[in-house]
Amino acid sequence: MDLATRFDGPAADKPGDAGSPSVLRNALVDRLTSSGHIDDSMVEAAFRAVPRHMFLPQFPVASVYEDQGFITKTRDGIALSSSTGPGPMAYMLQQLDLRPGHRVLEIGAATGYNAAIIAHIVGESGHVVTVDIEPDVLEDARRHLADAGFGRIKAICADGGHGYADDAPYDRIILTTGAWDIAPAWLEQLKPGGRLVLPLSIRGGHQGIVAFDNRGDRLNSGRIRPTGYIPLRGAFAGPTEERTIGSGSDAFVVGDRIDMDAETIYELITGESQDLATGVSVTWDELYGLQTWLAARKPRTCEFNDTDGPRRIVPPFFQSQNADKIICWTNGVVEERGIAVFHQEGGEAQPIDLIVRGYGPDAGVAERLLKNILAWEAAGRPLMSDIRITVLPMDTPYEPAGDEVMVPKRWNKLAVRFGARGVAAG
Ligand SMILES: C[S@@+](CC[C@H](N)C(=O)[O-])C[C@H]1O[C@@H](n2cnc3c(N)ncnc32)[C@H](O)[C@@H]1O
Repeated sequence: MDLATRFDGPAADKPGDAGSPSVLRNALVDRLTSSGHIDDSMVEAAFRAVPRHMFLPQFPVASVYEDQGFITKTRDGIALSSSTGPGPMAYMLQQLDLRPGHRVLEIGAATGYNAAIIAHIVGESGHVVTVDIEPDVLEDARRHLADAGFGRIKAICADGGHGYADDAPYDRIILTTGAWDIAPAWLEQLKPGGRLVLPLSIRGGHQGIVAFDNRGDRLNSGRIRPTGYIPLRGAFAGPTEERTIGSGSDAFVVGDRIDMDAETIYELITGESQDLATGVSVTWDELYGLQTWLAARKPRTCEFNDTDGPRRIVPPFFQSQNADKIICWTNGVVEERGIAVFHQEGGEAQPIDLIVRGYGPDAGVAERLLKNILAWEAAGRPLMSDIRITVLPMDTPYEPAGDEVMVPKRWNKLAVRFGARGVAAG
C-alpha cells in the first residue's frame, strides 16, 4: 500500500449496507471468533464496537476490516509506527486479562486503536493512559480518539520507558513496542498482583509476547508466543543493532553483540562455506523453540535478512513474500573469526532437515552451534510455549535451577526455564 495515498476520510456507516464499516467489522469479528483468535466476550464486544476505520482513515475501509497490520509512519525505509493486525492484538489483550474498572498504561499509542479497545473493556469506571514517543503520531492518535468518542483516554507524548508516574499505580501495563529489558518504572508503577504484557526479546531481533504477573520481588511469566513488533526507541532501547552487509545490498544482520565488522561479514558470507548435517528435523513451531534456546545461551546469536534476487547475499533458509519482495532470513551466530547459520536444502516443506553452514577460518563456530542444536534435541525439543521466564532485579540474590539459564540485562536478570516438550516449566 502506498502510504502517500489518501482517502476521503471515514466512510459513512450505514449498518444496512453490505459494504458499510459496521457490517465489515462484524464480519471480521465473526471470522476472528470462529478461528479462535478471539475467545473472550469482553474483547469480542470491544472489537465489534470500536470503529477501526476511524483510526486508519488513510486506508480503504475494506482492507481496514481484514486481519492485517498497516505501517503508518516510516523514516529512511524503517517502520516507526504501525497498526497491529486485529488477530495479534486480540491475543495480547486476552493475555492482559482486563476487567471493568482497571487502570491501564499502554506504551506505544500509534493510531490509538488499541487504547480505544482497552478503554471499551475497562469502561467509564476504568482509566487508560497511552504514551507514544513520536509527537505527530501522538497528535493523530489524540484526534482519532476524540473523533471516535474516546476523548477520556489520556494520550501523552513521552518516552514510555519512564512509564507515566502521575496516574500510577496501574492494574495492567501493556507495551505494543518490542522491549529488551523491563524498565524499572514499569515495575514500580505496576500494582502487586498486576500484569505486564509485552513483546520481549531475550537476545537479538527474535521476540516473544510474554505476560508477566507481579509477585512483588519478581515477575513470573505465563506462556510465550513468537511475534515481531517495532522495537522500543529512546533512552530505554536495548543494545540490539542492525548492520548492513554489502554496499548497495538489502542484506543486514541483527544482533546484540556482533563481534565482526560489516565488511568482514560480507567477505565471509560470500566466500567458501562448509556444511554440517545435524540429523535434526524441525517444524516451524520447533524452530521458534530452538531459536529461543539459542538466544538464551549464545550472546552472539544473530538474525540475517535479505531480499531474494541477483544481489542476494544471505543464504535463503526461510523465504516469505512481503508486498513485491521475497524476504529471506536465517539465524546463526557471528563470532570473532567465523559465522555459522541455519541452512536447508528442502524448500518450503516441513519438517526441515537442519544443516549448519559455517564460514571463516574458525570451524569451531559451526561445531559449537551444532552442539547447541543437539543439546536442545536432547532436552526434549522444548517449544517456545514450554518456556517460562522469571524477571529479577539485577541485585536480587538468586540460585538458578538445573534447567534455568540466566540472561543478564541492563536492570534485571532473566531466569529462562525450558520445560520438557509439552510440559511447561513450573
Ligand atoms: C506497533 S506500534 C503500536 C501499535 C498500536 N498500539 C496499535 O494500536 O496497533 C509501536 C509504537 O510504539 C511507539 N514507540 C516506540 N518507542 C517508544 C517509546 N520509547 N515510548 C513510547 N512509544 C514508543 C512507536 O512510535 C509506535 O507508534
